[in-house]
Amino acid sequence: MRVLFIGDVVGKPGRAGLRAAMPGLRERHSPDLVLVNGENSAGGLGITQKTADDFFDMGCDAITTGNHVYRHREAYDFLDTDERVVRPANYTKGSPGKGSTVVEAAGRRVGIINLSGQVQMRAARSPFPEADSLVDRLEDETDAIIVDFHGEVTSEKIAMGWHLDGRVAAVLGTHTHVPTADARVLPGGTAFICDVGMTGARNGVLGVRREQALEGFRTQMPVKFSTSDEDLWINAVVVTVRDDGLAESIEQVLEPAPEQTA
Ligand SMILES: [Fe+2]
Ligand SMILES: [Fe+2]
Repeated sequence: MRVLFIGDVVGKPGRAGLRAAMPGLRERHSPDLVLVNGENSAGGLGITQKTADDFFDMGCDAITTGNHVYRHREAYDFLDTDERVVRPANYTKGSPGKGSTVVEAAGRRVGIINLSGQVQMRAARSPFPEADSLVDRLEDETDAIIVDFHGEVTSEKIAMGWHLDGRVAAVLGTHTHVPTADARVLPGGTAFICDVGMTGARNGVLGVRREQALEGFRTQMPVKFSTSDEDLWINAVVVTVRDDGLAESIEQVLEPAPEQTA
């Protein structure tokens, strides 16, 4: 089974770039399952039912999120009801949405877990015991488990890779919007990368228009940010999962989005 996981898609330009790239990605990587981090899909921050539907319409099977998930209040009901969308599991109990789900792909049941780091991030509980209890619960009812670990620092993400090595198919880092060069299958059989990166405008600053981000740094004054649409790139990984639910390989996909006609 091949899983295509797409890093944080930023705003409308990121979604348009992904839509344009999807046919080529499908042709070259033949994914059985397409996962996308959508925490920045609505206006650069947050997710809405409309942006989620846009992902489903372009062929994504499930959506993970992160710290910006609650930006748009109108999405809360939808986060509760749509089984294909998850938010970090170690958020406050009672917060909208759920931390894991199960989807079908290539005749197999795949568990998807979303977790948040706690270093320089807000999360109600440690992601480490949270991961244990979720894996314990999901391993009997699934054939493979994919984890999106949304975190700021490399140390915590690498530690999570080791923590889950041999128990899940992949621990894929998100949130920093910058892809790291450490993709590999750990000795126990878990595919790992500190950060998948961002699907959005490379000529901005993490998705924001660069002149606005620069003005903020130069003046130290509040600046209203908007989403950059200059030089759209796809940052993703392809994980090949064996029949035993562990990983055979992980391959980075870092490429410009095709020119868009509309
Ligand atoms: Fe993000
Ligand atoms: Fe984030």
